[in-house]
Amino acid sequence: MSISILHFVLFFYQIFSSTFAWGPIGHSLVARLAQNQLDSSTYKWVYNYIPSDLSGNLSAIASWPDLILYPDTNPLDYMNWQWSRELHYINTPDWNCQYISTRDCLNDRCVEGALKNYSQRLIDNKCDYVQQQQALFFLVHFVGDVHQPLHCGFKGDFGGNMVKGFFLNEKNLTNLHTIWDVEIINNRIDLHFQSDINLYYEYLKSLMFNQSLLNNETYNDYKVWIDESVNYVCKQVYLDDNNIRINTSLKFTLGEEYFNRNWPLIDQRLAQAGHRLASLFNQLVKKRSPRKLSPNTQALIIALCIELGIGIIAAMCIYLYKREKNTTHEVLMPE
Ligand SMILES: *[C@@H]1O[C@H](CO)[C@@H](O)[C@H](O)[C@H]1NC(C)=O
Ligand SMILES: *[C@@H]1O[C@H](CO)[C@@H](O)[C@H](O)[C@H]1NC(C)=O
Ligand SMILES: *[C@@H]1O[C@H](CO)[C@@H](O)[C@H](O)[C@H]1NC(C)=O
Ligand SMILES: *[C@@H]1O[C@H](CO)[C@@H](O)[C@H](O)[C@H]1NC(C)=O
Ligand SMILES: *[C@@H]1O[C@H](CO)[C@@H](O)[C@H](O)[C@H]1NC(C)=O
Ligand SMILES: *[C@@H]1O[C@H](CO)[C@@H](O)[C@H](O)[C@H]1NC(C)=O
Repeated sequence: MSISILHFVLFFYQIFSSTFAWGPIGHSLVARLAQNQLDSSTYKWVYNYIPSDLSGNLSAIASWPDLILYPDTNPLDYMNWQWSRELHYINTPDWNCQYISTRDCLNDRCVEGALKNYSQRLIDNKCDYVQQQQALFFLVHFVGDVHQPLHCGFKGDFGGNMVKGFFLNEKNLTNLHTIWDVEIINNRIDLHFQSDINLYYEYLKSLMFNQSLLNNETYNDYKVWIDESVNYVCKQVYLDDNNIRINTSLKFTLGEEYFNRNWPLIDQRLAQAGHRLASLFNQLVKKRSPRKLSPNTQALIIALCIELGIGIIAAMCIYLYKREKNTTHEVLMPE
């Protein structure tokens, strides 16, 4: 995908804003939290990959991996990105409560494989600028996804997408996955932060700093992030207001009890994702190898070297020639 198509997608996104995984709000919060924690050298490096009209705003690209998948937001090209769909999640057998990569992530086609792949590609100097840019956009998104527990959900109901019911006072049927992507966050902001996303962001930032002081983790322990999500899925996501297991055969009705039990987990996962995304970038920047020069620059440098070489050789020839003449002269002098 060229840079112009990337712009095209972001442009269409402004027109057709609908709902996507973690929702644009969740993803943009994670990116904003991370951006706040980048070292200045990391930020300079990241900035280089963000389209210039977005003024270095990491949140503005955070939903790109979702936007490319749908005809509404990427009408010309969405079919060419369907291969990346399965990279947004892992699924485990229902109520198995354990992630086993050899079983749940065949050929690395899952979010763990994608996190490994794009972390490596982002700093691989065999990848060109556009490939590294895509790697960056994917990472911002997938670090968010992996912290949404239902991106590590059950296979039988497609990560909660097939489990339908009603949430809080909403009249429309929804599904469990959407509740975790967007509805808990939206209600949290509306009910507890006067519908002001900036107030929620400030709160999450404070939570993130408090949490990050407590732990000392490996920056790329993707499996640990997945294990945590898998564990929350079994321990609380599928339990309704009365602690009865939710399943596809009956429509759920989830109320205030469910909301109050789960918003603290959403807060925690958003803050963790922001902190971890920042440490991932802060560490990767130290490991990157210098990018290869573009073919044009290479050609220019070769041309300059050749010219310099010719210059030196010519200067030496003149010098030797003159010396030769002088020597002859000197030898002749005494006679
Ligand atoms: C950054 O992008 C997000 C998402 O598009 C937007 O909501 C926010 O206002 C932008 N922030 C700035 C400072 O432009
Ligand atoms: C790694 O990234 C490249 C470029 O997007 C993609 O073609 C390939 O399928 C990815 N592999 C995995 C295992 O995700
Ligand atoms: C509920 O569904 C109706 C019909 O699809 C739609 O017009 C309305 O906007 C929806 N309401 C909410 C709150 O999503
Ligand atoms: C973070 O810690 C400070 C100092 O202990 C406390 O005042 C603040 O409320 C904490 N923030 C959150 C979101 O828990
Ligand atoms: C954090 O990790 C570093 C490096 O591994 C170690 O030196 C340090 O003692 C650890 N700190 C805590 C509080 O665990
Ligand atoms: C699904 O949940 C309902 C309500 O708790 C229960 O009556 C039913 O037995 C469950 N079905 C399965 C297949 O577990």
